[in-house]
Amino acid sequence: MIISPTDLEAADLEADAIVVGVDAQGSLTKEAQEIDAATGGLLARLVAGGEISGKLGNVTVLMSPAGVKAALVAVVGLGESRQFGRGQAFRAAAAAAKRLAERPRRRVAFFLGEGWTEQQVESGVSGAMVGCCGQDLYRAEKNLHPFEEILWDDAYESVLASGRILGESINLTRQLVNEPASRIYPESFAAEAEKFAEEFGLEIEVWDEQRLEDERCGALLAVARGSMRPPRLVILSHLGGAAGDPVLALVGKGVTFDSGGLSIKPTDGMKTMKCDMAGAATVFGAMQAIARLELPVNVIGLAGLVENMVGGDAYKLGDVLIARNGKTVEVLNTDAEGRLVLADVLDVALERQADRIIDLATLTGACMVALGTDVAGLMTNDQPWCDAVRSAADDCGEAIWQLPMFADYDEQIQSKVADIKNVGEGRWGGAITAAKFLEQFVGKTPWAHVDIAGPAFLENPKPWLDAGGTGAFVRTLVEVVRRWNG
Ligand code: BES
Ligand code: MN
Ligand code: ZN
Repeated sequence: MIISPTDLEAADLEADAIVVGVDAQGSLTKEAQEIDAATGGLLARLVAGGEISGKLGNVTVLMSPAGVKAALVAVVGLGESRQFGRGQAFRAAAAAAKRLAERPRRRVAFFLGEGWTEQQVESGVSGAMVGCCGQDLYRAEKNLHPFEEILWDDAYESVLASGRILGESINLTRQLVNEPASRIYPESFAAEAEKFAEEFGLEIEVWDEQRLEDERCGALLAVARGSMRPPRLVILSHLGGAAGDPVLALVGKGVTFDSGGLSIKPTDGMKTMKCDMAGAATVFGAMQAIARLELPVNVIGLAGLVENMVGGDAYKLGDVLIARNGKTVEVLNTDAEGRLVLADVLDVALERQADRIIDLATLTGACMVALGTDVAGLMTNDQPWCDAVRSAADDCGEAIWQLPMFADYDEQIQSKVADIKNVGEGRWGGAITAAKFLEQFVGKTPWAHVDIAGPAFLENPKPWLDAGGTGAFVRTLVEVVRRWNG
Protein backbone atom coordinates (compact mmCIF):
# COMPACT_ATOMS: atom_id res chain seq x y z
CA MET A 1 0.00 0.00 0.00
CA ILE A 2 1.28 3.44 -0.94
CA ILE A 3 0.82 6.06 1.77
CA SER A 4 1.76 9.64 1.02
CA PRO A 5 0.97 13.17 2.08
CA THR A 6 -1.00 15.59 -0.07
CA ASP A 7 -1.35 19.34 0.17
CA LEU A 8 -3.95 19.70 -2.56
CA GLU A 9 -7.36 21.19 -1.77
CA ALA A 10 -9.89 18.46 -1.03
CA ALA A 11 -12.17 19.46 -3.90
CA ASP A 12 -9.32 19.42 -6.43
CA LEU A 13 -7.89 16.01 -5.67
CA GLU A 14 -8.36 13.22 -8.23
CA ALA A 15 -9.25 10.16 -6.17
CA ASP A 16 -11.79 7.38 -5.93
CA ALA A 17 -12.89 8.85 -2.64
CA ILE A 18 -12.05 11.55 -0.18
CA VAL A 19 -12.86 11.50 3.52
CA VAL A 20 -13.80 14.55 5.56
CA GLY A 21 -15.09 14.93 9.13
CA VAL A 22 -17.94 16.39 11.13
CA ASP A 23 -18.17 16.45 14.91
CA ALA A 24 -21.07 15.51 17.14
CA GLN A 25 -22.31 19.11 17.26
CA GLY A 26 -22.54 19.08 13.47
CA SER A 27 -19.53 21.36 12.95
CA LEU A 28 -17.72 20.63 9.72
CA THR A 29 -13.93 20.48 9.83
CA LYS A 30 -12.03 23.00 7.73
CA GLU A 31 -11.66 20.57 4.83
CA ALA A 32 -15.32 19.57 5.08
CA GLN A 33 -16.20 23.26 4.86
CA GLU A 34 -14.18 23.49 1.65
CA ILE A 35 -16.15 20.60 0.19
CA ASP A 36 -19.32 22.26 1.43
CA ALA A 37 -18.38 25.49 -0.37
CA ALA A 38 -17.42 23.61 -3.55
CA THR A 39 -20.76 21.77 -3.58
CA GLY A 40 -22.94 24.81 -2.95
CA GLY A 41 -23.65 24.02 0.69
CA LEU A 42 -24.56 20.35 0.24
CA LEU A 43 -22.86 19.14 3.42
CA ALA A 44 -24.37 21.82 5.62
CA ARG A 45 -27.82 21.02 4.23
CA LEU A 46 -27.42 17.31 4.91
CA VAL A 47 -26.17 17.99 8.43
CA ALA A 48 -29.10 20.35 9.08
CA GLY A 49 -31.52 17.75 7.70
CA GLY A 50 -30.07 15.07 9.98
CA GLU A 51 -28.84 12.95 7.05
CA ILE A 52 -25.21 13.31 8.07
CA SER A 53 -24.43 12.38 11.67
CA GLY A 54 -21.35 13.41 13.59
CA LYS A 55 -21.60 10.45 15.93
CA LEU A 56 -18.20 8.80 16.18
CA GLY A 57 -17.69 6.37 13.32
CA ASN A 58 -20.91 7.15 11.42
CA VAL A 59 -20.16 7.34 7.71
CA THR A 60 -22.27 9.04 5.04
CA VAL A 61 -21.16 8.48 1.45
CA LEU A 62 -22.07 11.06 -1.19
CA MET A 63 -21.84 9.92 -4.81
CA SER A 64 -20.21 12.18 -7.39
CA PRO A 65 -21.23 15.50 -5.90
CA ALA A 66 -20.86 18.32 -8.44
CA GLY A 67 -17.88 20.58 -7.80
CA VAL A 68 -15.63 17.84 -6.41
CA LYS A 69 -13.13 15.91 -8.54
CA ALA A 70 -13.23 12.74 -6.44
CA ALA A 71 -15.91 10.19 -7.29
CA LEU A 72 -17.10 9.87 -3.71
CA VAL A 73 -17.09 11.98 -0.60
CA ALA A 74 -17.31 10.11 2.70
CA VAL A 75 -18.29 12.23 5.68
CA VAL A 76 -17.26 10.55 8.92
CA GLY A 77 -18.45 11.41 12.40
CA LEU A 78 -15.67 12.40 14.78
CA GLY A 79 -17.81 12.31 17.93
CA GLU A 80 -17.67 14.81 20.78
CA SER A 81 -14.81 17.18 20.10
CA ARG A 82 -14.00 17.42 23.81
CA GLN A 83 -13.48 13.66 23.99
CA PHE A 84 -11.43 13.49 20.81
CA GLY A 85 -8.15 11.62 21.15
CA ARG A 86 -6.07 8.94 19.51
CA GLY A 87 -8.71 6.25 19.99
CA GLN A 88 -11.34 8.38 18.28
CA ALA A 89 -8.93 9.23 15.44
CA PHE A 90 -8.31 5.52 14.94
CA ARG A 91 -11.99 4.61 14.94
CA ALA A 92 -13.15 7.43 12.70
CA ALA A 93 -10.54 6.72 10.03
CA ALA A 94 -11.11 2.98 10.32
CA ALA A 95 -14.88 3.35 9.97
CA ALA A 96 -14.52 5.47 6.83
CA ALA A 97 -11.98 3.03 5.40
CA LYS A 98 -14.13 0.00 6.17
CA ARG A 99 -17.14 1.50 4.42
CA LEU A 100 -15.16 2.58 1.37
CA ALA A 101 -13.41 -0.78 1.13
CA GLU A 102 -16.69 -2.53 0.42
CA ARG A 103 -15.76 -2.08 -3.23
CA PRO A 104 -12.27 -1.92 -4.75
CA ARG A 105 -10.92 1.65 -4.63
CA ARG A 106 -7.51 2.51 -5.84
CA ARG A 107 -6.89 5.79 -4.16
CA VAL A 108 -8.52 7.21 -1.04
CA ALA A 109 -7.56 10.57 0.44
CA PHE A 110 -8.15 11.43 4.10
CA PHE A 111 -8.75 15.08 4.89
CA LEU A 112 -9.13 14.71 8.63
CA GLY A 113 -5.95 16.12 10.03
CA GLU A 114 -7.03 19.67 10.82
CA GLY A 115 -5.80 20.42 14.31
CA TRP A 116 -4.88 16.78 14.92
CA THR A 117 -1.70 16.07 16.85
CA GLU A 118 0.98 13.94 15.23
CA GLN A 119 -0.06 11.06 17.46
CA GLN A 120 -3.65 11.41 16.31
CA VAL A 121 -2.60 11.42 12.66
CA GLU A 122 -0.48 8.34 13.27
CA SER A 123 -3.49 6.63 14.87
CA GLY A 124 -5.72 7.72 11.99
CA VAL A 125 -3.36 6.28 9.40
CA SER A 126 -3.11 2.96 11.21
CA GLY A 127 -6.89 2.96 11.66
CA ALA A 128 -7.40 3.47 7.93
CA MET A 129 -5.16 0.49 7.20
CA VAL A 130 -6.90 -1.71 9.76
CA GLY A 131 -10.40 -0.68 8.69
CA CYS A 132 -9.95 -1.66 5.05
CA CYS A 133 -8.50 -5.09 5.82
CA GLY A 134 -10.91 -7.96 6.55
CA GLN A 135 -11.07 -11.55 7.80
CA ASP A 136 -12.04 -12.84 4.34
CA LEU A 137 -8.72 -14.68 3.88
CA TYR A 138 -10.37 -17.65 2.22
CA ARG A 139 -13.24 -16.02 0.36
CA ALA A 140 -12.98 -15.81 -3.41
CA GLU A 141 -15.23 -12.76 -3.31
CA LYS A 142 -13.69 -10.42 -0.78
CA ASN A 143 -15.86 -8.43 1.61
CA LEU A 144 -13.24 -5.75 1.98
CA HIS A 145 -10.73 -4.52 -0.59
CA PRO A 146 -7.65 -2.84 0.87
CA PHE A 147 -6.86 0.40 -0.98
CA GLU A 148 -3.85 0.59 -3.23
CA GLU A 149 -3.06 4.10 -2.11
CA ILE A 150 -3.87 6.23 0.91
CA LEU A 151 -3.29 9.96 0.78
CA TRP A 152 -3.28 11.99 3.98
CA ASP A 153 -3.79 15.71 3.99
CA ASP A 154 -1.06 17.89 5.38
CA ALA A 155 0.95 15.19 7.20
CA TYR A 156 4.63 14.61 7.87
CA GLU A 157 6.20 11.65 6.04
CA SER A 158 7.64 10.41 9.34
CA VAL A 159 4.19 10.34 10.96
CA LEU A 160 2.72 8.48 7.99
CA ALA A 161 5.63 6.02 8.19
CA SER A 162 5.04 5.23 11.86
CA GLY A 163 1.27 5.04 11.24
CA ARG A 164 1.93 2.51 8.53
CA ILE A 165 4.16 0.44 10.82
CA LEU A 166 1.45 0.36 13.49
CA GLY A 167 -1.23 -0.48 10.94
CA GLU A 168 0.79 -3.31 9.44
CA SER A 169 1.67 -4.68 12.88
CA ILE A 170 -1.97 -4.69 13.99
CA ASN A 171 -2.96 -6.36 10.73
CA LEU A 172 -0.23 -8.97 11.22
CA THR A 173 -1.68 -9.82 14.63
CA ARG A 174 -5.18 -9.95 13.16
CA GLN A 175 -4.15 -12.18 10.30
CA LEU A 176 -2.33 -14.63 12.58
CA VAL A 177 -5.45 -14.85 14.75
CA ASN A 178 -7.72 -15.23 11.73
CA GLU A 179 -5.77 -18.10 10.21
CA PRO A 180 -7.41 -21.39 11.18
CA ALA A 181 -5.72 -23.78 13.58
CA SER A 182 -5.02 -26.18 10.69
CA ARG A 183 -2.57 -23.58 9.35
CA ILE A 184 -1.31 -21.91 12.51
CA TYR A 185 -0.03 -24.53 14.95
CA PRO A 186 3.04 -24.22 17.18
CA GLU A 187 5.64 -25.06 14.50
CA SER A 188 4.10 -22.95 11.75
CA PHE A 189 3.43 -20.09 14.17
CA ALA A 190 7.09 -20.10 15.21
CA ALA A 191 8.05 -20.16 11.53
CA GLU A 192 5.98 -16.98 10.99
CA ALA A 193 7.90 -15.36 13.82
CA GLU A 194 11.18 -16.41 12.22
CA LYS A 195 10.11 -14.79 8.96
CA PHE A 196 9.39 -11.35 10.34
CA ALA A 197 12.28 -11.52 12.82
CA GLU A 198 14.62 -12.02 9.87
CA GLU A 199 12.96 -9.28 7.86
CA PHE A 200 13.05 -6.65 10.60
CA GLY A 201 16.26 -7.54 12.42
CA LEU A 202 14.92 -9.11 15.61
CA GLU A 203 16.97 -11.81 17.31
CA ILE A 204 14.98 -14.99 17.67
CA GLU A 205 15.33 -18.23 19.57
CA VAL A 206 12.89 -21.11 19.09
CA TRP A 207 12.85 -23.89 21.66
CA ASP A 208 11.71 -27.28 20.36
CA GLU A 209 10.35 -30.13 22.45
CA GLN A 210 13.78 -31.45 23.41
CA ARG A 211 14.89 -28.02 24.60
CA LEU A 212 11.62 -27.53 26.50
CA GLU A 213 12.32 -30.81 28.28
CA ASP A 214 15.93 -29.87 29.01
CA GLU A 215 14.58 -26.62 30.42
CA ARG A 216 12.10 -28.49 32.65
CA CYS A 217 9.04 -26.74 31.21
CA GLY A 218 6.80 -29.35 32.79
CA ALA A 219 3.60 -27.33 32.83
CA LEU A 220 3.76 -26.21 29.20
CA LEU A 221 4.76 -29.70 28.05
CA ALA A 222 1.86 -31.30 29.91
CA VAL A 223 -0.65 -29.18 28.00
CA ALA A 224 1.03 -30.04 24.70
CA ARG A 225 0.92 -33.80 25.27
CA GLY A 226 -2.61 -34.31 23.99
CA SER A 227 -1.73 -32.95 20.56
CA MET A 228 0.07 -34.36 17.52
CA ARG A 229 1.58 -30.90 17.10
CA PRO A 230 4.78 -30.45 19.11
CA PRO A 231 5.02 -27.27 21.22
CA ARG A 232 7.43 -24.38 20.78
CA LEU A 233 8.66 -21.47 22.85
CA VAL A 234 9.68 -18.36 20.96
CA ILE A 235 11.97 -15.67 22.36
CA LEU A 236 12.34 -12.49 20.31
CA SER A 237 14.81 -9.79 21.34
CA HIS A 238 15.03 -6.18 20.37
CA LEU A 239 18.03 -4.76 22.19
CA GLY A 240 17.58 -1.13 21.24
CA GLY A 241 18.91 0.18 24.55
CA ALA A 242 22.38 0.05 26.07
CA ALA A 243 23.79 -3.18 27.49
CA GLY A 244 23.02 -2.37 31.14
CA ASP A 245 19.60 -0.82 30.49
CA PRO A 246 16.52 -2.47 32.04
CA VAL A 247 14.68 -5.15 30.13
CA LEU A 248 10.97 -5.24 29.46
CA ALA A 249 9.43 -8.67 28.79
CA LEU A 250 6.23 -9.07 26.79
CA VAL A 251 4.78 -12.54 27.32
CA GLY A 252 1.99 -14.06 25.23
CA LYS A 253 -0.32 -17.06 25.52
CA GLY A 254 -0.12 -18.98 22.28
CA VAL A 255 -2.61 -21.82 22.48
CA THR A 256 -3.11 -22.34 18.76
CA PHE A 257 -6.31 -24.25 19.43
CA ASP A 258 -8.06 -24.78 22.75
CA SER A 259 -10.40 -27.76 22.62
CA GLY A 260 -10.43 -27.71 26.42
CA GLY A 261 -8.54 -31.01 26.52
CA LEU A 262 -10.28 -33.81 28.41
CA SER A 263 -12.38 -31.14 30.17
CA ILE A 264 -13.64 -30.64 26.65
CA LYS A 265 -15.52 -27.54 25.58
CA PRO A 266 -18.97 -27.71 24.02
CA THR A 267 -19.17 -26.69 20.34
CA ASP A 268 -20.32 -23.17 21.10
CA GLY A 269 -17.38 -22.48 23.35
CA MET A 270 -14.89 -24.18 21.03
CA LYS A 271 -15.81 -22.67 17.69
CA THR A 272 -13.69 -19.53 18.10
CA MET A 273 -10.78 -21.18 19.89
CA LYS A 274 -8.36 -20.62 17.02
CA CYS A 275 -8.16 -17.19 18.68
CA ASP A 276 -6.53 -18.60 21.82
CA MET A 277 -3.10 -17.62 20.53
CA ALA A 278 -4.04 -13.94 20.34
CA GLY A 279 -1.77 -13.03 23.26
CA ALA A 280 1.24 -14.43 21.40
CA ALA A 281 0.10 -12.78 18.15
CA THR A 282 -0.21 -9.46 19.98
CA VAL A 283 3.32 -9.81 21.33
CA PHE A 284 4.55 -10.63 17.81
CA GLY A 285 2.76 -7.61 16.31
CA ALA A 286 4.14 -5.32 18.99
CA MET A 287 7.68 -6.70 18.67
CA GLN A 288 7.57 -6.14 14.93
CA ALA A 289 6.46 -2.53 15.45
CA ILE A 290 9.05 -1.91 18.19
CA ALA A 291 11.84 -3.20 15.92
CA ARG A 292 10.68 -1.24 12.88
CA LEU A 293 10.28 1.95 14.90
CA GLU A 294 13.79 1.34 16.24
CA LEU A 295 12.71 2.22 19.77
CA PRO A 296 15.77 2.71 22.01
CA VAL A 297 14.73 0.15 24.61
CA ASN A 298 15.61 -3.44 25.49
CA VAL A 299 12.51 -5.54 24.95
CA ILE A 300 12.11 -9.29 24.79
CA GLY A 301 8.96 -11.01 23.52
CA LEU A 302 8.23 -14.53 24.71
CA ALA A 303 5.44 -16.78 23.50
CA GLY A 304 4.48 -20.26 24.64
CA LEU A 305 2.97 -22.13 21.69
CA VAL A 306 0.92 -25.29 22.24
CA GLU A 307 -2.26 -26.94 21.04
CA ASN A 308 -4.66 -28.15 23.76
CA MET A 309 -6.12 -31.42 22.50
CA VAL A 310 -7.50 -34.75 23.66
CA GLY A 311 -5.02 -37.29 22.21
CA GLY A 312 -4.30 -40.57 23.97
CA ASP A 313 -1.43 -39.05 25.92
CA ALA A 314 -3.39 -35.95 26.96
CA TYR A 315 -2.80 -34.66 30.49
CA LYS A 316 -5.49 -35.67 32.93
CA LEU A 317 -7.48 -34.40 35.87
CA GLY A 318 -5.60 -35.16 39.06
CA ASP A 319 -2.19 -35.04 37.37
CA VAL A 320 0.49 -33.22 39.30
CA LEU A 321 2.90 -31.22 37.17
CA ILE A 322 6.24 -29.73 38.11
CA ALA A 323 6.49 -26.26 36.64
CA ARG A 324 9.81 -24.82 35.55
CA ASN A 325 10.24 -22.85 38.76
CA GLY A 326 9.84 -26.05 40.80
CA LYS A 327 6.28 -25.47 42.04
CA THR A 328 3.95 -28.46 41.82
CA VAL A 329 0.53 -27.97 40.26
CA GLU A 330 -2.52 -30.18 40.61
CA VAL A 331 -4.61 -30.20 37.43
CA LEU A 332 -8.33 -30.11 38.17
CA ASN A 333 -9.47 -28.79 34.80
CA THR A 334 -7.54 -29.28 31.56
CA ASP A 335 -9.36 -26.27 30.08
CA ALA A 336 -7.46 -24.00 32.46
CA GLU A 337 -4.41 -24.58 30.25
CA GLY A 338 -3.32 -21.02 29.45
CA ARG A 339 -2.06 -20.38 32.97
CA LEU A 340 0.00 -23.59 32.83
CA VAL A 341 1.66 -22.51 29.59
CA LEU A 342 2.29 -19.01 30.90
CA ALA A 343 3.70 -20.32 34.19
CA ASP A 344 6.76 -21.70 32.44
CA VAL A 345 7.14 -18.81 29.99
CA LEU A 346 7.01 -16.27 32.82
CA ASP A 347 9.78 -18.19 34.55
CA VAL A 348 11.90 -17.97 31.41
CA ALA A 349 11.27 -14.20 31.35
CA LEU A 350 12.61 -13.97 34.92
CA GLU A 351 15.68 -15.98 33.97
CA ARG A 352 16.25 -13.58 31.08
CA GLN A 353 16.54 -10.76 33.62
CA ALA A 354 13.25 -9.05 32.89
CA ASP A 355 12.87 -5.95 35.07
CA ARG A 356 9.21 -5.51 34.15
CA ILE A 357 6.71 -7.94 32.66
CA ILE A 358 3.44 -7.58 30.77
CA ASP A 359 1.61 -10.73 29.80
CA LEU A 360 -1.29 -10.89 27.38
CA ALA A 361 -3.64 -13.84 27.26
CA THR A 362 -7.10 -14.90 26.19
CA LEU A 363 -7.15 -16.41 29.65
CA THR A 364 -10.69 -16.60 31.02
CA GLY A 365 -14.30 -16.51 29.99
CA ALA A 366 -14.84 -15.14 33.49
CA CYS A 367 -13.13 -11.91 32.48
CA MET A 368 -15.80 -11.45 29.82
CA VAL A 369 -18.51 -12.14 32.37
CA ALA A 370 -16.99 -9.43 34.57
CA LEU A 371 -16.24 -6.74 31.99
CA GLY A 372 -18.09 -7.62 28.79
CA THR A 373 -16.55 -8.48 25.46
CA ASP A 374 -14.88 -5.16 24.66
CA VAL A 375 -12.83 -4.49 27.78
CA ALA A 376 -9.60 -6.16 28.87
CA GLY A 377 -8.95 -7.08 32.49
CA LEU A 378 -5.80 -5.76 34.13
CA MET A 379 -4.25 -7.40 37.19
CA THR A 380 -0.93 -6.74 38.86
CA ASN A 381 1.47 -7.25 41.73
CA ASP A 382 2.79 -3.68 41.39
CA GLN A 383 0.46 -0.67 41.26
CA PRO A 384 2.86 1.87 39.67
CA TRP A 385 3.62 -0.52 36.82
CA CYS A 386 -0.07 -1.28 36.39
CA ASP A 387 -0.79 2.47 36.26
CA ALA A 388 1.81 2.88 33.53
CA VAL A 389 0.16 0.19 31.42
CA ARG A 390 -3.30 1.55 32.06
CA SER A 391 -2.42 5.11 31.19
CA ALA A 392 -0.79 3.99 27.92
CA ALA A 393 -3.96 2.06 27.06
CA ASP A 394 -6.17 5.03 27.99
CA ASP A 395 -4.19 7.35 25.73
CA CYS A 396 -4.44 4.90 22.84
CA GLY A 397 -8.17 4.50 23.40
CA GLU A 398 -7.95 0.78 24.21
CA ALA A 399 -10.42 -0.17 26.93
CA ILE A 400 -8.95 -1.80 30.03
CA TRP A 401 -10.09 -2.07 33.64
CA GLN A 402 -8.24 -3.15 36.71
CA LEU A 403 -9.47 -6.04 38.85
CA PRO A 404 -8.33 -6.51 42.46
CA MET A 405 -5.70 -8.98 43.63
CA PHE A 406 -6.54 -9.23 47.34
CA ALA A 407 -4.47 -11.80 49.22
CA ASP A 408 -7.63 -13.65 50.27
CA TYR A 409 -8.05 -14.95 46.73
CA ASP A 410 -4.84 -16.94 47.17
CA GLU A 411 -6.68 -19.47 49.31
CA GLN A 412 -8.73 -20.47 46.30
CA ILE A 413 -5.75 -21.95 44.47
CA GLN A 414 -4.39 -23.93 47.41
CA SER A 415 -4.26 -27.67 46.69
CA LYS A 416 -4.39 -30.59 49.09
CA VAL A 417 -1.87 -32.62 47.12
CA ALA A 418 0.41 -30.06 45.45
CA ASP A 419 1.66 -26.52 46.02
CA ILE A 420 -1.23 -25.04 44.02
CA LYS A 421 -4.07 -26.14 41.75
CA ASN A 422 -4.92 -24.77 38.35
CA VAL A 423 -8.48 -23.62 39.09
CA GLY A 424 -10.19 -21.69 41.89
CA GLU A 425 -13.08 -22.90 44.05
CA GLY A 426 -16.09 -22.78 41.74
CA ARG A 427 -16.39 -20.18 39.02
CA TRP A 428 -16.58 -17.00 41.07
CA GLY A 429 -13.83 -14.50 40.43
CA GLY A 430 -12.35 -16.72 37.73
CA ALA A 431 -10.38 -13.96 36.01
CA ILE A 432 -8.73 -13.09 39.32
CA THR A 433 -7.96 -16.63 40.47
CA ALA A 434 -6.29 -17.20 37.09
CA ALA A 435 -4.16 -14.09 37.64
CA LYS A 436 -3.40 -15.25 41.19
CA PHE A 437 -2.07 -18.46 39.68
CA LEU A 438 0.21 -16.52 37.32
CA GLU A 439 1.43 -14.37 40.18
CA GLN A 440 3.07 -17.50 41.61
CA PHE A 441 5.51 -17.44 38.70
CA VAL A 442 6.70 -13.83 38.53
CA GLY A 443 8.52 -13.55 41.85
CA LYS A 444 8.84 -9.93 42.94
CA THR A 445 9.24 -8.56 39.43
CA PRO A 446 6.69 -5.84 38.63
CA TRP A 447 4.14 -7.57 36.44
CA ALA A 448 0.91 -6.61 34.71
CA HIS A 449 -1.44 -9.26 33.38
CA VAL A 450 -3.84 -8.30 30.59
CA ASP A 451 -6.73 -10.72 30.05
CA ILE A 452 -7.80 -10.11 26.45
CA ALA A 453 -10.33 -12.97 26.19
CA GLY A 454 -13.00 -10.45 25.18
CA PRO A 455 -11.33 -7.76 23.06
CA ALA A 456 -8.93 -10.00 21.10
CA PHE A 457 -11.67 -11.45 18.92
CA LEU A 458 -14.95 -10.11 17.56
CA GLU A 459 -17.75 -12.54 16.77
CA ASN A 460 -19.63 -9.76 14.95
CA PRO A 461 -18.16 -6.84 13.03
CA LYS A 462 -18.04 -3.28 14.36
CA PRO A 463 -18.57 -0.29 12.09
CA TRP A 464 -14.82 0.33 12.19
CA LEU A 465 -13.53 -3.24 12.28
CA ASP A 466 -14.33 -6.52 10.59
CA ALA A 467 -15.12 -9.50 12.80
CA GLY A 468 -12.32 -11.88 13.80
CA GLY A 469 -8.96 -10.96 15.28
CA THR A 470 -8.79 -7.32 16.38
CA GLY A 471 -5.11 -6.64 17.04
CA ALA A 472 -6.18 -5.06 20.33
CA PHE A 473 -3.33 -3.87 22.57
CA VAL A 474 -0.61 -3.80 19.94
CA ARG A 475 -0.86 0.00 20.09
CA THR A 476 -0.82 0.01 23.88
CA LEU A 477 2.29 -2.15 24.05
CA VAL A 478 4.11 0.12 21.62
CA GLU A 479 3.02 3.12 23.68
CA VAL A 480 4.33 1.54 26.89
CA VAL A 481 7.69 1.02 25.20
CA ARG A 482 7.77 4.56 23.82
CA ARG A 483 7.26 5.93 27.32
CA TRP A 484 9.63 3.47 28.92
CA ASN A 485 12.44 4.82 31.00
CA GLY A 486 13.01 1.87 33.28
N1 BES B 1 -9.11 -19.87 26.25
C1 BES B 1 -10.04 -19.98 27.31
C2 BES B 1 -10.66 -18.65 27.71
C3 BES B 1 -11.51 -17.96 26.67
C4 BES B 1 -12.89 -18.12 26.68
C5 BES B 1 -10.94 -17.10 25.76
C6 BES B 1 -13.65 -17.47 25.74
C7 BES B 1 -11.71 -16.45 24.81
C8 BES B 1 -13.07 -16.63 24.80
C9 BES B 1 -9.35 -20.58 28.54
O1 BES B 1 -8.33 -21.47 28.28
C10 BES B 1 -10.37 -21.31 29.31
O2 BES B 1 -10.89 -22.26 28.79
N2 BES B 1 -10.65 -20.85 30.52
C11 BES B 1 -11.63 -21.47 31.35
C12 BES B 1 -11.05 -21.54 32.74
C13 BES B 1 -11.84 -22.42 33.68
C14 BES B 1 -11.78 -23.86 33.24
C15 BES B 1 -11.27 -22.27 35.06
C16 BES B 1 -12.88 -20.62 31.32
O3 BES B 1 -12.77 -19.40 31.26
O4 BES B 1 -13.97 -21.19 31.34
MN1 MN C 1 -9.02 -23.44 28.01
ZN1 ZN D 1 -7.36 -21.25 26.50
